[in-house]
Amino acid sequence: MNPLSFGLTQNVCIVTGGTRGIGLEIARTLLEQGASVVVCARKQDGLDAAGSSLNGGDRLLTVQAHTARSDDVDRLFDAAMQRFGKIDTLINNVGMNLITTVVDADPALWHKIIDSNLNAAFLCSRKAGQIMRRQNRGKIVHMSSIAAHRAAPAMGVYGIAKAGIEMMTRVLAQELAPFNVQVNAIAPCMVKTGFSKAFWADPALHDHIVKTIPMGRLADPTDIVYPALFLCSEASNFVTGQTLNVDGGASAV
Ligand SMILES: NC(=O)c1ccc[n+]([C@@H]2O[C@H](COP(=O)([O-])OP(=O)(O)OC[C@H]3O[C@@H](n4cnc5c(N)ncnc54)[C@H](OP(=O)(O)O)[C@@H]3O)[C@@H](O)[C@H]2O)c1
Repeated sequence: MNPLSFGLTQNVCIVTGGTRGIGLEIARTLLEQGASVVVCARKQDGLDAAGSSLNGGDRLLTVQAHTARSDDVDRLFDAAMQRFGKIDTLINNVGMNLITTVVDADPALWHKIIDSNLNAAFLCSRKAGQIMRRQNRGKIVHMSSIAAHRAAPAMGVYGIAKAGIEMMTRVLAQELAPFNVQVNAIAPCMVKTGFSKAFWADPALHDHIVKTIPMGRLADPTDIVYPALFLCSEASNFVTGQTLNVDGGASAV
């Protein structure tokens, strides 16, 4: 694809979970667009590898932070503000799943999935919202999933957490609209990353899932990048509180 220009040259963007998968590709494209990017993840080796691969020079800052931990999130936003002085966009990309039914979920496992998806998104949105409200400008993009809309085997707790994120998207959109901050979500179908490999690496399961997607394939991380950039850009200034399904038509049928 020829690179589209999204006018993000002067922007400062935080991408949580930006060392692999979807987050890494969003961070890469934001840097290509001329933005300054702050990437966080839990593991330092992943941050080091992403730092080398992204090669963002002075426009890239990597911060080790667990986004379900309030102190880490405070440190992440402090580091971003100290380095760049503002935050235009938060891509709330961190998420994880552990396979369980809801009825048999151990409470510790329930808390882990809710923490890493819903609570992490809350902690980061809260900090970003406070900063963006002062700036009178900002964009928050949450990473949901089509699992938020339909009960899916092995994804029950995850789907509940993502449904919470979509409601949080609408609530924050209302709270922050008077301050010129837009809050939206993206709901992908299955994307070929390490996160979902247990599903797509199994040929029978892969074919079964592909049959539910009119476009006839799973998403690649790059399929999510430009919809995310649209929601970071001025092109979406009158779009808020929405979830954009990026799912090859899966939710349409
Ligand atoms: N892949 C799919 O099929 C799919 C479909 C729909 C929606 N999504 C959503 O899209 C988002 C990205 O998924 P992905 O497939 O790109 O995931 P991924 O390949 O597993 O990458 C996850 C990234 O998040 C980081 N991370 C995980 N937990 C973290 C935490 N608590 N604090 C900070 N960083 C953390 C990981 O680094 P560390 O391990 O070093 O922390 C890594 O950089 C998630 O919200 C996921 O729910 C994915």
